[in-house]
Amino acid sequence: MTTSPTTTATAAGASSATAASSKAATTTTTTTDAAAATSYELPWVEKYRPQRLDDVVGNRATIERLKAIQHDGNCPHLLISGLPGIGKTTSVHCLAHALLGDAYREGVLELNASDERGIDVVRNKIKTFAQKKVSLPPGRHKIIILDEADSMTPGAQQALRRTMEIYSSTTRFAFACNQSSKIIEPIQSRCAILRFAKVRDEEILKRLLEICEMEGVEYNDEGLAAIIFTTEGDMRQAINNLQSTYTGLGFVNQENVFKVCDQPHPHLVRAILESCRAADIDAAMDRLDEIWSKGYSAVDIVTTLFRVAKTLDSLSEAVKLDFIREIGWTHIKVLEGVSTNVQLGGLLARLCRLNMNAKLFEL
Ligand SMILES: Nc1ncnc2c1ncn2[C@@H]1O[C@H](COP(=O)(O)OP(=O)(O)OP(=O)(O)O)[C@@H](O)[C@H]1O
Ligand SMILES: [Mg+2]
Repeated sequence: MTTSPTTTATAAGASSATAASSKAATTTTTTTDAAAATSYELPWVEKYRPQRLDDVVGNRATIERLKAIQHDGNCPHLLISGLPGIGKTTSVHCLAHALLGDAYREGVLELNASDERGIDVVRNKIKTFAQKKVSLPPGRHKIIILDEADSMTPGAQQALRRTMEIYSSTTRFAFACNQSSKIIEPIQSRCAILRFAKVRDEEILKRLLEICEMEGVEYNDEGLAAIIFTTEGDMRQAINNLQSTYTGLGFVNQENVFKVCDQPHPHLVRAILESCRAADIDAAMDRLDEIWSKGYSAVDIVTTLFRVAKTLDSLSEAVKLDFIREIGWTHIKVLEGVSTNVQLGGLLARLCRLNMNAKLFEL
């Protein structure tokens, strides 16, 4: 996907403004100075928040549906669900901007988890807004955005049912949430449901490269790959990690990324898995102890084991599947509360066993 001219223009405008202000402040720019100069500006996640649906990366099919609504102008009630940091709130605001234009300020009421959203608010604030007269472009409706709607109490959600119907000639509701199951059925049935999936790695990479270029970030390919490894489809975290690494350490390479993101280094984790493949339990345990002594939790280690195992080419397909199954079982046990070193040691023993002659274990 290519960046649309608007994003490039806005972002380029923003970065040239930054460049101008930092030039005024300092005349000599070494890498550290450059990093220091950027440390007080807007977080990049906000600076590069897409302004138009075309600028939202990934989830093409869902974005196309939103664009169809934008062209049609008649917005149904919407429920957008998906994991954190993948563009839900951004997309709802882009749609509202596109539909209402200059009337956006007057015509949109946003309530998120930081606002009080109990039954009283639904009764008063939402109803008052729904009754308010606002001049909008012809054929358009006021929009009430209920962000992080899964944190609304069921009582408050119940109170919305009739409100949504009574004011539907003038007002549309857009819900955004992480878990659609926490939205009561009657509201789900009143909405067009859109699901956002994780952003794909290559799409995140493309966006990171654009930001690197606009911000003049110094990086190498392994550094960006490490950022993508640590974020697992969460665009917000990818951009935040890029900014933290660059502003903190001045160069985005693998070493710096893992220092800043503080996750078990995949090289060490890979070494554990390689030792298990060679059925060398002593070496595997030594490496596990090394990671454990750095203070990582069992969840950190087990999730990194999974991510590395998934991409470990030295394992045959069958062994890889066995490894992933064992890691999955251990993940369940860790989440159930048994998150000790012994639990992880047990996992490594089972992984080693998979690579040993089964006859050795016959009684
Ligand atoms: N698909 C995307 N394309 C471009 N930028 C994105 C995308 N998703 C997230 N971002 C970046 O991450 C920031 C946060 O995105 P957004 O607020 O839309 O996340 P969200 O899906 O609403 O997450 P949450 O569930 O935590 O509310 C945006 O400001 C933007 O910089
Ligand atoms: Mg959001």
